[in-house]
Amino acid sequence: MRTNGIHANLSSDFVLRKFAGENESNNMKKLLVANWKLNPQTLNEAKKLFKEVSNFKIHDPRFELVICPPFSYLSSIVSHKSSVIGHRSLVKLGAQDVFWEDKGAYTGEVSAAMLKNLGVEYVIIGHSERRRWLNETDEMINKKVLTTLKAGLKVILCAGEPLNIRRKGLVAAKRFVKNQLQNDLKNVSSFKFQVPRLIVAYEPIWAIGTGRPDKPEQTAEMAKFIKDVLGAMFHVSRFPEAEPRRKASFQRGKQVRYPEGETAFSYGAGGAGKFQVLYGGSVNSGNAEMFLEKKEIDGALIGGASVKPKEFGKIIKIAQRLS
Ligand code: PGA
Repeated sequence: MRTNGIHANLSSDFVLRKFAGENESNNMKKLLVANWKLNPQTLNEAKKLFKEVSNFKIHDPRFELVICPPFSYLSSIVSHKSSVIGHRSLVKLGAQDVFWEDKGAYTGEVSAAMLKNLGVEYVIIGHSERRRWLNETDEMINKKVLTTLKAGLKVILCAGEPLNIRRKGLVAAKRFVKNQLQNDLKNVSSFKFQVPRLIVAYEPIWAIGTGRPDKPEQTAEMAKFIKDVLGAMFHVSRFPEAEPRRKASFQRGKQVRYPEGETAFSYGAGGAGKFQVLYGGSVNSGNAEMFLEKKEIDGALIGGASVKPKEFGKIIKIAQRLS
């Protein structure tokens, strides 16, 4: 058993092993998330698209594929999924949003429990389009993150700066993204078991749907920065910087209990490990490799290209090769 992903507060060896195993697979695989947004226009088209895209993936465990259709198609796609590709398909389903309450008088909303009940495993939260068109605030996003983690689903939290900030340079962009993460992830540290279910998608707003992606080198720098921010927020140490006592404990594969009762993880010297950071913004088959080949970038959140089966198929092939 590899020793990364050690949770100080876990008493059960079983949970510890399960936990470390989860991290281990995450460390090696690239994750592709298809964000269909408000597409396609009919259920038949949605089923067809799902089938075409899943065909590229069936029984290939090398990388992770998550498809996020609009809410209204989710339940039909769940049934369709088992009929066209079988129950044991490796394609996962995600939702594009969630509400923070479980039940009650909230017209039009969908809860995390409802999504889980349908077989959804991932939820995109805080997409810049929702921040813009639905006036979603960091406070609302924070509540959604907490509820979703608590329900046992995986969160894909979107963060990214607008153009006027990026024009000031990468340092300003980092400051903006750090601030977003700190606001959106408030009180998440109290959900220690859920930290491994947290994925961040770095999506510079100016790159989304514009055909002008970020520079892969700058994305890689931002992804590493985000991992460091998350590491500091959740008390995660990173080899070889980890202090010797912690490092020795990790190497012996032992649990470590810190005086303050906090949790410690390791996410590996290569920066690949513990937290998954994806890139999103005009990813296509022509540029996907330049992003996915970077060890700091664990995958991609793809909008426009994910509803074009041939184009998405090419991106999948790239992810297969690099995973
Ligand atoms: P895009 O969208 O790939 O069309 O730029 C990405 C996103 O909004 O997640």
